[in-house]
Amino acid sequence: MSQVVLITGASSGIGKASALLLTERGYIVYAGTRTPEKFDTDTKNLHVIQLDITDNKSIQRAVIDIHKEQGRIDVLVNNAGYGLVSTVEDVSEEEMFNQFNVNVFGVFRVCKEVIPLMRENNSGVIINISSFLGKIGLPLLTFYNASKYAVEGITDSLRYELKDFNIRVHSIMPGFFSTNFAKDNLVTNAATFDEASPYAHLVSNLAPNIVEQINKGNDASEAAELMLKIIEDEGALARETVGDKARQFIPMRRELSDEDFERRVREYYRLNE
Ligand SMILES: NC(=O)c1ccc[n+]([C@@H]2O[C@H](COP(=O)([O-])OP(=O)(O)OC[C@H]3O[C@@H](n4cnc5c(N)ncnc54)[C@H](OP(=O)(O)O)[C@@H]3O)[C@@H](O)[C@H]2O)c1
Repeated sequence: MSQVVLITGASSGIGKASALLLTERGYIVYAGTRTPEKFDTDTKNLHVIQLDITDNKSIQRAVIDIHKEQGRIDVLVNNAGYGLVSTVEDVSEEEMFNQFNVNVFGVFRVCKEVIPLMRENNSGVIINISSFLGKIGLPLLTFYNASKYAVEGITDSLRYELKDFNIRVHSIMPGFFSTNFAKDNLVTNAATFDEASPYAHLVSNLAPNIVEQINKGNDASEAAELMLKIIEDEGALARETVGDKARQFIPMRRELSDEDFERRVREYYRLNE
């Protein structure tokens, strides 16, 4: 019997590449997106479904529909996310809340609806798309970093909570990937990006560098292949890295002291200049 997969934020990038790969490999995939019209496909076994992870009703509707059609959800991929670029002193209450509303509370909301179905089946796999920035901080990305650190925390705790029900929980920490992330999903704070900002020097050094690294990053298909591997391998690790930047920084983060690691990041991103 084909396994049923729900992916959030699946209209582009890593979510879309994963939806296409998993469908090709025989899974029944529900590609959740706020904008189903953007995901134009007539691929068999690929169902595009309206899903806004900030809206409980939208999530409940989607999960009920999948349950009616398939009777189960075997795999949940929490992929939807965006990045706020702002200093801490400039951020608005709304920007701060929205960052966590999507990247963190969205994961909780979808898990809350899907876990009971997995628990009834005594099986399931949950994969959270975090980031290598879920283990490494960078200036101007404090809110995004904190949201992805939180996703790492969710993975660690849920693994214990769901073990007795045979539900595996994993996180994937991508490095930079050349998706639509830099173009569509980096949200900038106006004051931080004002020429008169006391952080202007940092902004002009770091922001274009990050955008360039994302745009020249790895291909989303690599993350999709890792997702497939985790789904199919009962013994998959709790968390895996994918992409050059994650492979470069995560082992270094594990090996070096906080201070030595900070020094390396400062040098690499020229934060002392
Ligand atoms: N690209 C990178 O360098 C990189 C690196 C590390 C981690 N990641 C993570 O990988 C995941 C996928 O990103 P991507 O690189 O594939 O970027 P992408 O091509 O821009 O896709 C992001 C997806 O997230 C959803 N999304 C964005 N803002 C949202 C919001 N306000 N509310 C609900 N959904 C929202 C969108 O879903 P809709 O279909 O609803 O529009 C979109 O399909 C994200 O969690 C991101 O943080 C990306």
